[in-house]
Amino acid sequence: MNGRPTQAQATAWLDRWDRQQGHYMPDREERFDVVLDVLDEVLGRPDPLVVDLGIGPGSLAHRLVDRIPAARVVGVDADPLLLELGSIARPDSRIRTVLADLREPGWFARLDLDRAPDAYVSSTALHWMDAGPLRTVFAECARTIAPGGVLVDADHLYEGAAAPGLDDLLRALTARRAQRRGTRQAEDWQAWWDAVDAAPELAELVRERAGGFEHVVTDRPSVHDYVAFAREGGFAEAGIVWQVGDDRIVVATAPR
Ligand SMILES: C[S@@+](CC[C@H](N)C(=O)[O-])C[C@H]1O[C@@H](n2cnc3c(N)ncnc32)[C@H](O)[C@@H]1O
Repeated sequence: MNGRPTQAQATAWLDRWDRQQGHYMPDREERFDVVLDVLDEVLGRPDPLVVDLGIGPGSLAHRLVDRIPAARVVGVDADPLLLELGSIARPDSRIRTVLADLREPGWFARLDLDRAPDAYVSSTALHWMDAGPLRTVFAECARTIAPGGVLVDADHLYEGAAAPGLDDLLRALTARRAQRRGTRQAEDWQAWWDAVDAAPELAELVRERAGGFEHVVTDRPSVHDYVAFAREGGFAEAGIVWQVGDDRIVVATAPR
C-alpha cells in the first residue's frame, strides 16, 4: 500500500463516483448520450478536438472517445485527485488533463492546444461558478472556438430569483425521479468524499488535494444568464435543448 491506487482500485472508485452522481442525476447516462448526440449533429468532422470544462475523473470524456474514437479531449479541472483517479483508471492517449482553476485568468493558455477546439463540453461542473467568472469563461470559449463549433453544458440549471417556487419544483421533480429510478439510494457527495479521505490507497492523492479548493457560490447565474452570456460572448445562437427537472443541457453554436 503506497498511498496511490492500482488501476483496479481507481476503476472501482470511478464506478462508485458514477453511482454517487446518480444520487443527484437519475438521467445522467441519458444526458451524456444527448451531449454526444449534439456533437454528432453539429460537428462536421470525425476527429474533433474537445475541451471538457471541469472534467473531474473523466466520466464524460471516456464516453466521448468511446462514441467518437478519433476525437481528442483536453480536460481542465482544479481537483488533482479527481484528475488522477480518472487517468489511473483509464489511461488513454486521446485524453489529456490540465490542472487549472477556470476562475483564474490564463486557464485557456494552459491547455496548450495545437488548434482551435471544435467543442467545449461540461457536465455538472459550471454550477460551481458565480455569474461574473462564468460570463468570462463563456466569452473565452466564444473567442477561442473553431468556426461552426459548439458549446454543450449539462448541469443543474435554475430559473433564478424571478421564480424560486419553480426552482423548488424542479428540484423536487428530479428527486422524485431519482427515487423512482432507484438511483437516490446511492451514497451522496459527502459520503463519497468521507470514504475517499479514509481510503489508505488514496492517502497520497488526498494529501495532494489538500482539502480541495474553495467553491462557495454567492451569485448563482440562472439558466437564462447562461444563454445570455453565451450570446453576449459571441456565440451565434444559444438555448436549452434538453431538460428533466433541474437537469438541463444548454447549447451554444459558434458562427461559421
Ligand atoms: C460534480 S463534479 C463533475 C465532474 C465530471 N464533469 C462529471 O460529470 O463526473 C464538478 C467538477 O467541476 C470541477 N470544477 C468546479 N469548479 C471548477 C473551477 N472553477 N475550475 C476547475 N474545475 C472546477 C470540480 O473540481 C469537479 O471535478
